[in-house]
Amino acid sequence: MPITSEEMIGWINSRRSMGNLDAPAPTYAQVKTAIECATTAPDHKKLQPWRFIVTQGDARHELGRVLARAAQEKAIQEGEVLSEKDIEKTVNMPLRAPMIITVVTKMQAHQKVPPFEQILSTGAAVQNLILALKAQGYSTVWRTGLLCNEPAVKAYFDVGSNDYVTAFVYTGTSPADEATRKATDIEPLVRFES
Ligand SMILES: Cc1cc2nc3c(=O)[nH]c(=O)nc-3n(C[C@H](O)[C@H](O)[C@H](O)COP(=O)(O)O)c2cc1C
Repeated sequence: MPITSEEMIGWINSRRSMGNLDAPAPTYAQVKTAIECATTAPDHKKLQPWRFIVTQGDARHELGRVLARAAQEKAIQEGEVLSEKDIEKTVNMPLRAPMIITVVTKMQAHQKVPPFEQILSTGAAVQNLILALKAQGYSTVWRTGLLCNEPAVKAYFDVGSNDYVTAFVYTGTSPADEATRKATDIEPLVRFES
């Protein structure tokens, strides 16, 4: 039976970020489906500025080590010293979900498509990705954090100095139902003119 537009709108509005994510992660086929949806995001001049890196299993430990290195380098630059506890927390960050889909904006040179449009297109791709994962029964949270565009992290993801790590989409199965959301009062946010 086809879903009604009311159901569809209710479904979109029901998306919530979930910080606590367990296995199972999506299968390879499910991730591919979600990434295909991501690539239908609005994309001026079809530049495809987005890249997706899927990290799971032991690769999450490597990502944790990269984040910790980035944190240490950042601390040194800022004249700070990280505690053992801070370092351990950072190393373990990627273990908060069974899968992390990192979305990168690889800036494409184009006269009519400035960098901000390419970053926004990536944001739209991320939202499509998140909804396509939800449609297949998975929960997510979009995180960036202060380290995502530190040099060590950029190097790990093969991201150039003009490019951005735009999202770490933590992905998995939520042990709890996604919390319900109170409808937003859009009155102060909108002006209708006719
Ligand atoms: C670009 C971007 C970066 C974000 N980075 C983080 C982050 O590093 N840590 C975090 O807890 N939430 C982050 N968030 C917010 C969460 O993804 C989420 O939207 C927020 O917690 C509200 O929850 P909701 O999606 O259920 O409304 C980020 C959101 C965006 C759009």
